[in-house]
Amino acid sequence: MGTMHLLFVTLSLSIFTTTTNAHNITALLSGFSDYSLFNSYLSQTKLDGEINSRQTITVLVLNNAAMSALVAKHPLSVIKNALRLHVLLDYYDAAKLHQITDGTTTTTTLYQTTGNAAGNIGSVNITDLKGGKVGFGSAAPGSTLDSTYTKEVKKVPYNISILEISQPIIAPGLLTAPAPSASDLNITALLEKAGCKTFAALILKTGVLKVYQTAADKGLTVFAPSDEAFKAANVPDLSKLSNADLVSLLQFHALSSYAPIGTLKTTKNPFTTLATSAAGKFDLTAETSGDEVTLKTGYDSSRVATTVLDSTPLCIFTVDSVLLPPELFGISPSPAPAPVPVTSPTPSPNKAPTPAVAPASVMSPPAPPMESPVVSPAEAPIKAENSTSDSSAAVYVEAPALLKGIVTVSAIVIVSVFLS
Ligand SMILES: *[C@@H]1O[C@H](CO)[C@@H](O)[C@H](O)[C@H]1NC(C)=O
Ligand SMILES: *[C@@H]1O[C@H](CO)[C@@H](O)[C@H](O)[C@H]1NC(C)=O
Ligand SMILES: *[C@@H]1O[C@H](CO)[C@@H](O)[C@H](O)[C@H]1NC(C)=O
Ligand SMILES: *[C@@H]1O[C@H](CO)[C@@H](O)[C@H](O)[C@H]1NC(C)=O
Ligand SMILES: *[C@@H]1O[C@H](CO)[C@@H](O)[C@H](O)[C@H]1NC(C)=O
Repeated sequence: MGTMHLLFVTLSLSIFTTTTNAHNITALLSGFSDYSLFNSYLSQTKLDGEINSRQTITVLVLNNAAMSALVAKHPLSVIKNALRLHVLLDYYDAAKLHQITDGTTTTTTLYQTTGNAAGNIGSVNITDLKGGKVGFGSAAPGSTLDSTYTKEVKKVPYNISILEISQPIIAPGLLTAPAPSASDLNITALLEKAGCKTFAALILKTGVLKVYQTAADKGLTVFAPSDEAFKAANVPDLSKLSNADLVSLLQFHALSSYAPIGTLKTTKNPFTTLATSAAGKFDLTAETSGDEVTLKTGYDSSRVATTVLDSTPLCIFTVDSVLLPPELFGISPSPAPAPVPVTSPTPSPNKAPTPAVAPASVMSPPAPPMESPVVSPAEAPIKAENSTSDSSAAVYVEAPALLKGIVTVSAIVIVSVFLS
């Protein structure tokens, strides 16, 4: 027998599109209870979608103990960046870790794709240490290789690899970076600018703003009715509501979770709101038709009009109609309330208003004029999709989506020489 040379060249060309999902990281991790917290945070931060849309990727997972230490002290926006650093944009399994040329390398991560990672802060250093150990650390100068490779969890060769490491990889400044959202943001100012002055005044007056601000660190989605929406004929006279009911109504306009437009479009189950308690359901269901998302309360419904802010973990949308919960306003009227605002509101003093069947005159324009949507500098969204039915509709996506469309070429060359 002679010499057999086997040359294996795997060239993987990854073309990202918004529609193809190469993997399902949630499903891949679901069989491992050790990583349930890690998996849950991938879902909460919506990083699962970013991982699923990439063809060649390595996820460095942390067990529940290591993960709880990380999540205990930090807001979701910081946890999201920390987790981004654990997603390598290349394929590494155990064999490849031990074959690193010269025993050390750096590799880029999802954090690099945010555009906020200066220098090599978005990269990870992988070094083959003595005694068969492999160390991981930030690639930023002066960092130490505090984390070590523990085991292979799962792999689909050259597509996705899931490796467990001993502790979080932390880039300098990552954990102390100010959260771009919540406490720094002036929610009422954003709402006023977006044409929701009435709503802003109501949440301020009733103290619901404080409830929003408290919730905003953990995840909050606000549906703010436009000023026109409050003038619609089917909207009851809010001054006739008890303070408790008004508070419930305003809390009903927010979800206690971060739900950007993509989440609204794909979630079939009802969302609980800040008004949801043991006393009543107060939930909302989102329905999608084309690019348009409609919220259904069980009493009335409203189109989601614009995205005012999408900055993890806070989302603010404007809606065309005031969302009236059946828990306060009774069973669904029929026919459905007119979605268009009318000039002469006829407030109904009681709690079960008659619906506006035929609005006498329709104001023009149907939607309030919008100023430029305000975005967080850290996760500057880009205008990504078509307007839907009118000019006030705008859909924004987070910056990493920019990178979809980028073509990555990763070449893995394995040369095996068998001599006999
Ligand atoms: C991924 O898997 C999870 C759990 O198995 C499932 O709920 C989810 O719908 C899947 N996602 C996609 C995009 O298929
Ligand atoms: C990785 O970190 C080690 C230890 O700090 C360092 O010696 C090595 O040069 C780094 N590797 C690369 C490729 O930067
Ligand atoms: C890996 O990804 C490529 C490109 O999408 C695909 O053709 C191939 O079937 C995948 N391999 C496995 C084992 O799923
Ligand atoms: C938020 O903005 C409102 C009006 O836009 C202003 O009255 C208020 O003082 C601001 N609050 C803070 C804390 O800056
Ligand atoms: C944009 O809108 C036009 C007309 O409504 C439609 O034909 C087209 O498919 C839309 N494009 C996208 C990307 O949604």
